[in-house]
Amino acid sequence: MRHIYFDSGDNCLVLLDQRLLPGQEQWFRCAKTADVVYALQKMVVRGAPAIGVSAAYGCVLAALEVEGRMDWREILAGKTDEIAMARPTAANLVWAVKRMRDFCRDKEFSTPAELAAMWLEEARRIHREDVETNKAIGINGRDLLQDGETVMTHCNAGALATGGYGTALGVVRAAVEQGKNISVIANETRPFLQGARLTAYELAEDNISVRVACDNACAFLMQRQMVHKVLVGADRIAANGDTANKIGTYALAVLAQRHNIPFYVAAPLSTFDFSMATGKEIPIEDREPQEVRYISGQLIVPEDVDAYNFAFDVTPYELISGIITENGVLTPPLSKAG
Ligand code: MRU
Repeated sequence: MRHIYFDSGDNCLVLLDQRLLPGQEQWFRCAKTADVVYALQKMVVRGAPAIGVSAAYGCVLAALEVEGRMDWREILAGKTDEIAMARPTAANLVWAVKRMRDFCRDKEFSTPAELAAMWLEEARRIHREDVETNKAIGINGRDLLQDGETVMTHCNAGALATGGYGTALGVVRAAVEQGKNISVIANETRPFLQGARLTAYELAEDNISVRVACDNACAFLMQRQMVHKVLVGADRIAANGDTANKIGTYALAVLAQRHNIPFYVAAPLSTFDFSMATGKEIPIEDREPQEVRYISGQLIVPEDVDAYNFAFDVTPYELISGIITENGVLTPPLSKAG
């Protein structure tokens, strides 16, 4: 599923608009840095690795935008900073912008256009590598799933959340490709409904069995033994293995422990942030209350009542059975796992 690409004829980053799925498949074109920042903040594109890939292409647009400016290096640094700061929690965003900056450090170029051409190659490399990484995560995680099992997932950690294939859903895909019969329960994931809209959409497209459940049904489904494994993605993983992911993930992990259900995180190494010792240091995005107060433009709470809209929570490492990466399955706490 190609949902992010750079149109070099038009010098545009083209994104499948995830706000409109599954009802409409519309493409959102970014011609300037500001468009990319908007697309990231408004969640035209979302999911930590997809955010990283889009940010890398965004740096190319930033370089093209400063062509002809005397002080272009300074302006460009400001623009790439704007991209890196578009959302605070996903480690892959800062990781990708840093990789783009580091890439040009020892290269020869004298104009922004020359830099943009080199950066486009690097952004495409980041994109390709992300898909390869997800396939490796899939292979490393697929034997954790047995034929006939049902996996509960939260948010969307699939092809749409990455350069392609997916992390948590990549593990499901790899198990299905092995010939196993795997079913998925996609928690709907209020307020943006990534589970109901996006996970269900992409699994249905691939003919993988999927059923949507209300977020508040997960305890009941676990109690009824309808869930064999929980498998989620990650936005940032601290050095000890504490994991930030979509709000509601922590509750799922607590419930999984209560019902003796293995709880796995699938994430690339670019999601790890070893500068943070524990999850307490991870910045949690606090989004507009309007996203909670309205559904499809309809106010669903009394006019003068406010809402919380923290976008992520942190699951302590003790609740995580394993973190599936491209290098293998790590068992938290990570320092002990080496
Ligand atoms: O707010 P979002 O949709 O960007 O949040 C996405 C998630 O929480 C995903 O689970 C995470 O980024 C992993 S995506 C492979």
